[in-house]
Amino acid sequence: MRYRTLGSSDLEVSEISLGSWLTYSGGVEADATRACTEAAFDAGINFFDTANAYGRGAAETAWGEILSAHPRDSYVLATKVYFPMSDDPADRGLSAPQIAKQIDASLTRLRTDHVDLYQAHRFDTTVPIEDTIEAFQKVVAQGKARYIGFSEWTPEQIQAAIDLAGPELFVSSQPQYSMLWQAPEAEVFDLCAAHDISQIVWSPLAQGVLTGKYKPGQPVPEGSRFASADMAVSQDLVYSDAILEAVQRLVPIAEEAGLDLPTLALAWVLRRRELASAITGASRPEQVHANAAASGVELTEDVLTAVDRALGDTPVTEPTLAPGAEAGVKRR
Ligand SMILES: NC(=O)c1ccc[n+]([C@@H]2O[C@H](COP(=O)([O-])OP(=O)(O)OC[C@H]3O[C@@H](n4cnc5c(N)ncnc54)[C@H](OP(=O)(O)O)[C@@H]3O)[C@@H](O)[C@H]2O)c1
Repeated sequence: MRYRTLGSSDLEVSEISLGSWLTYSGGVEADATRACTEAAFDAGINFFDTANAYGRGAAETAWGEILSAHPRDSYVLATKVYFPMSDDPADRGLSAPQIAKQIDASLTRLRTDHVDLYQAHRFDTTVPIEDTIEAFQKVVAQGKARYIGFSEWTPEQIQAAIDLAGPELFVSSQPQYSMLWQAPEAEVFDLCAAHDISQIVWSPLAQGVLTGKYKPGQPVPEGSRFASADMAVSQDLVYSDAILEAVQRLVPIAEEAGLDLPTLALAWVLRRRELASAITGASRPEQVHANAAASGVELTEDVLTAVDRALGDTPVTEPTLAPGAEAGVKRR
């Protein structure tokens, strides 16, 4: 496993990291959650990404139990705040009271006195940005988080936050990024790089679509993520016959390069030095080991050109907002 520095921080994170969104928030049994997490340690993965909203605390609770058995300085722990935590309409967002309440709740569930990275899961357009930044600065000053990051902020929101907070507060940006969702390359990568903010990208395998296991016109394999009815909402972006056909065109390219498709897909995102880590999900420990092996794989220019040709216009490359992200900035 190779490691990269997270933005301007002193954190060294594994190029492949493990996330807990639909998996360890309830989608995957407790035994498999433990097996995947231990497989990550075995494979040299030291970076773990969760959020308060994953299963409304369930993912943090599961990892609190498993990770707290490991020395605290042997892993880099990231969580997030923004999405609703209850049916109370006030129990969401990035107001100062909400951030103060949610960091404490996350730390309790994670059984630690600090996270390494505390991230805004989205931008809150209903709260003055000054309030949000002051609240994050307080969390850092209290020692409850070492660094702050954001997820799916627009370039305008990123710039406004940096203008107010200065260059040191934010060390990471977490956009969706994969062969099938290349939009952040257009602006977010450059803007962040200019301020020493790393990308840590989510769904680099397009939720499993880039493993090639979903075949156009064929039934969804049993036990896979898209076999679950709950996933119907998220399918549109990465799951159509046109996309599945494009993914099948990548298979011979991977084979000719001596790789399997997940490795090609992960090496493809890691080719960008703006990335510190690709945050993968896994439902089985074998997937963790397979994905970790993509660290250090270099793709030739010929392979990259062949990938572009195979994808053609299929992927969603327009710089549209990711689902859930809203434009705009509210000021005091
Ligand atoms: N900031 C945000 O808004 C945001 C949003 C989404 C995710 N995230 C973060 O990003 C993390 C990763 O997202 P993701 O789970 O969608 O990532 P992903 O790596 O694109 O997809 C993971 C899923 O693909 C399948 N898979 C993975 N490796 C495989 C392999 N080698 N062979 C076959 N199938 C494989 C597994 O599903 P099955 O086995 O069930 O098919 C696995 O759960 C999340 O856990 C979360 O931490 C953040």
